[in-house]
Amino acid sequence: MIDIGGKRILITGASSGLGAALAVGLAEQGATVGLCARRADRLAEVLAAAREHQPASRSWTVDLADLDGIDAFAADVVEQLGGLDVLINNAGIPKRRWAWEHRPDEIADVLRINVESPIRLTLALLDALGASGGEVVFIGSVAARLSPPNESVYAASKAAITAFAEGLKVDLQVAGSPVGVHVVQPGVLDTELFALPDNDPSLADIEALPATAIVDAVRSALASGATETFVPEWFADLPATKAGDLDGFLAGSVEYTRQRLEAEGRPVPARPEVAG
Ligand SMILES: NC(=O)c1ccc[n+]([C@@H]2O[C@H](COP(=O)([O-])OP(=O)(O)OC[C@H]3O[C@@H](n4cnc5c(N)ncnc54)[C@H](OP(=O)(O)O)[C@@H]3O)[C@@H](O)[C@H]2O)c1
Repeated sequence: MIDIGGKRILITGASSGLGAALAVGLAEQGATVGLCARRADRLAEVLAAAREHQPASRSWTVDLADLDGIDAFAADVVEQLGGLDVLINNAGIPKRRWAWEHRPDEIADVLRINVESPIRLTLALLDALGASGGEVVFIGSVAARLSPPNESVYAASKAAITAFAEGLKVDLQVAGSPVGVHVVQPGVLDTELFALPDNDPSLADIEALPATAIVDAVRSALASGATETFVPEWFADLPATKAGDLDGFLAGSVEYTRQRLEAEGRPVPARPEVAG
């Protein structure tokens, strides 16, 4: 249970998309927001919009893939914000590729920014969050639960961070910590994620929600205390369907993917032994 007003909230990946929507949306509801990302110009625009609501908000230009810099960044956040109430681990990168086409550097990049970095940042901020009785939110993806086509490494990264969140929650509760842990799993929200270079075109054919839908989803997770929240909510039924008949679910995914490729006029991928 949490009232956003007056909270100090760190949002990673706040220069665009869901992070930018969270920055402005949560500042509008009374939170002092700390924002970070690599693109200083885009971050400055988002910070200016957040400061219209909460002037004490601030930003850091950081590359969260630099794992050696995370402890110093976390310490500076706590000092500058005077403590921390909520950490939202939102920064992430997509990777749409047929499984066997991922380059080694891509696999490492996805796992570093989507898994290692939020784990390291969370651990670096746990003392501050414990002191405030705070909350950690991980922005995962429905990919964590659904094994979508053309996204195996990305889905693995989101499944890994979901498993970490669950394990963290158990460990914290065993220790009697007041820190809450939540995962918010977006489906398709309208952001630049689907147009980033060096990715195959998206195969998703559901209507994208506006990026601002993430604000209500995060608020709802914090208010209810729920461990996992889907946006849109109807995705919540799919993991149980999948678990009930895994082979049938995966066969359906193959069929759906072949239909999507045909509808898009895209070729079926060359088999690995043919693609080399
Ligand atoms: N949009 C969707 O439908 C959807 C669905 C499922 C999950 N998600 C998840 O939602 C999160 C936000 O994605 P989005 O859709 O809002 O895409 P986006 O607009 O591309 O935002 C990604 C954010 O992450 C930041 N980021 C990436 N690499 C970083 C790094 N090395 N260091 C610091 N910041 C970094 C980017 O900032 P800079 O480039 O400026 O560093 C940007 O602010 C991601 O975790 C994504 O996997 C999105």
